[in-house]
Formats: sequence, structure tokens, C-alpha cells
Amino acid sequence: MFVFSFDVPNSLIVALIFTVAFKIYYEATKGVCMSSKRLDGKTIIVTGSNTGIGKATALDLASRGGRIILACRNLKKALVAKDKIVEKSRNPNVLVKELDLTSFTSIRRFAADVQKTEPKLHILIHNAGCGDIEQKTTEDGLEHQMQTNYFGPFLLTNLLLGLMIETGEKEKENVRIVNVGSDGHFSVGDLNLDDLNFSYERSAKTIWSPVQNNLWLPIKIYGTSKLCVILSSCELARKLEILGKPVTVNSLHPGGVYTEFSRFSKILSFLKSPAEGAQTSIYLAVADEISNVSGQYFRDCKIAQPSELARDKEFAKKLWEVSERLVRLEPKEKFF
Ligand SMILES: NC(=O)c1ccc[n+]([C@@H]2O[C@H](COP(=O)([O-])OP(=O)(O)OC[C@H]3O[C@@H](n4cnc5c(N)ncnc54)[C@H](OP(=O)(O)O)[C@@H]3O)[C@@H](O)[C@H]2O)c1
Repeated sequence: MFVFSFDVPNSLIVALIFTVAFKIYYEATKGVCMSSKRLDGKTIIVTGSNTGIGKATALDLASRGGRIILACRNLKKALVAKDKIVEKSRNPNVLVKELDLTSFTSIRRFAADVQKTEPKLHILIHNAGCGDIEQKTTEDGLEHQMQTNYFGPFLLTNLLLGLMIETGEKEKENVRIVNVGSDGHFSVGDLNLDDLNFSYERSAKTIWSPVQNNLWLPIKIYGTSKLCVILSSCELARKLEILGKPVTVNSLHPGGVYTEFSRFSKILSFLKSPAEGAQTSIYLAVADEISNVSGQYFRDCKIAQPSELARDKEFAKKLWEVSERLVRLEPKEKFF
């Protein structure tokens, strides 16, 4: 008779085998940005750059001579990161500006500051993101993950688009918007454009079962926020292409990366390092061979296919309209 026993030594061996197998897989498939492009004279914003993938991205771009704006919500942490980046890159042209994506007031203040102080903006990297376990609502009345990962960056892109287009037109070369998405979007099978704020599902709570108690809802919301990132990247790329504007927009999956994001589990240390996880963001920011590529999804420095839903162009158009309403984009802030 077969008796299933879950003794500790056996489970450790299984965990070890999985860890080694994953490590081999990551090593074999990870993409590396091979470009040695310099960024002297270019201005670059990296959001959420005080730690993790964002900090590694900012360090690499600073090493290429760019003027790097660390857009972070925690100034104390950001200043510590800035000192490290300046020291390692030997580039003093790194500055910190406050940006909290859960506040439209903060986003508008940040954008106004950039418009006032920066004559040009060449690269905007939307890296900041969160994965919540509990459900929270922002001061703007939106679901916390949806605003941090999608609505906030959507508003910021719209506010900085004019400056980026002007920069591209003056310099006669494409400037770039890079949106950090996630393969987590594959977990989402449908998107209710009438309730992007998940008001209905968030209110439908019971205490009786994990499913009814919506324990999986934060994961669904994370996937949805990243699906929206990919859809709106495609829609923005389409709009800019129709008008012939010199801005490319692409999104990416960084891979499974060991950062504060995965801080809850030490066993995840087989994942990519932040520097490895930053490679596709860096590639999209600098690589010459993709200077005209727009509206694509990347993984490991290569074009990849996002989910079927993420490729639905009609859906992307509708999402854009709904998002404009939800972030309360004012007529004078609209480019399109
Ligand atoms: N790690 C992975 O395996 C993985 C996989 C797929 C996609 N991603 C995506 O990659 C991006 C970077 O993630 P990471 O792994 O580097 O995570 P991380 O180490 O947790 O860093 C996230 C960054 O975003 C910032 N941030 C969070 N909420 C913010 C807000 N309201 N306003 C401004 N900044 C905010 C954080 O600031 P604080 O330090 O102040 O919290 C931090 O700087 C995220 O968009 C994430 O969704 C990560």
C-alpha cells in the first residue's frame, strides 16, 4: 500500500531540485542588453528607483552618462540610493524628485516640476509597482494596486507627453517610454471596463471561504493592472504613430526577480538578481536596433507575445477612454 509521507528531508531534496532546475532555466534564457550606447546629454526618469529593478536600471543608465531623475515616494530611501548610484557610476548628474503614484496631486506636482526644470526628456521608465496582499483605496478613491501600477503611470505619461514629443522633434530622433509590465497579466481572462476599480468584487466579502473572501482578488487585481499597462502601451503607440510623433512606447516582463517585491520568501533567491531583471528595461531604453519599434511587449530583451486579451486593439481603445475619465484628465492635459 502506498502511503504518502511528507518528511522534511524529502521535501528539502524536492525544493533543492526545483531551485536548481529554475536557476538553470533562468541562466539559459535570461536576456542581456549588449548595447554600449552612451547617454550623455540625455535626461531619463526612472520611477521607483530607490530599490530593486528600478535602482539597478538607474545605476546602469547613470553609468552611461545620462542625467537621471530618481522618481520616488520615499525621499530618505531615494537619497541613500542616489548616493550609491553616484558613487558606483561616478556620474554626479543624478537627482531625486518626489513622486507618489497613489496621489494624483503628487503626480501633477512632479510633472509640473519636471516641466519647469527639464528642457528635455528623452526616456521615461515606468518601473514603480506594488503587489498588495490586503485591499486598500487611494486618496483619489481608486483601488491601490490599480492606481500604483496603472492609473498613476497613465496620468504621468499623459502629463509628460508634450515635453517628450518636443524633445523628439527638436533632436530628430525617437524618445522612449518604457513600461514595466508583468507576465502576471496572463492570469487575467477578462476585464470589466465598467468596474476597473473593482468596486463590486471588493465589496463582495464573506468570511466563509478563501474564494468568497476574495483572498485571490489582490492577485487578480495585480494581473489586471499589468494587463492595462500592456494594453495602454499599445494604444499610445498606435495614437503616436498615426500622428507621426517621435515617441516609442513598449512594455516588458522583467522575469522573476529577487527584490523587495518578493521579500516575503527567502526561498525565491534562485530568481534573477535586480541587475539581471533590469536588462530588458535597459535594452528598451538604449538599444539602437529597436529605436523605431513601438507598441510591443518584450521579455529577456526580445519581442514576446502577450496574452490574447492584451492584443485586443479595440479593447485597448476603450480602456484608454475609460482611463482618461478615471484619472480625471483635464482638457488642457489631453494630448489627443
Ligand atoms: N520582482 C519580480 O519578480 C517582478 C516580476 C514581474 C514584474 N515586476 C515589476 O517590476 C517593477 C519593479 O519591481 P521590483 O521587483 O523592483 O519591486 P520593489 O523592489 O518592491 O520596488 C518597487 C519600487 O516601486 C516603488 N513604489 C511602490 N509604490 C509606489 C508609489 N505609490 N509611488 C512611487 N513609487 C512606488 C517602491 O518604493 P518604496 O521603496 O518606497 O516601496 C520601489 O522603489 C514593478 O512594476 C513590478 O510589478 C517585478
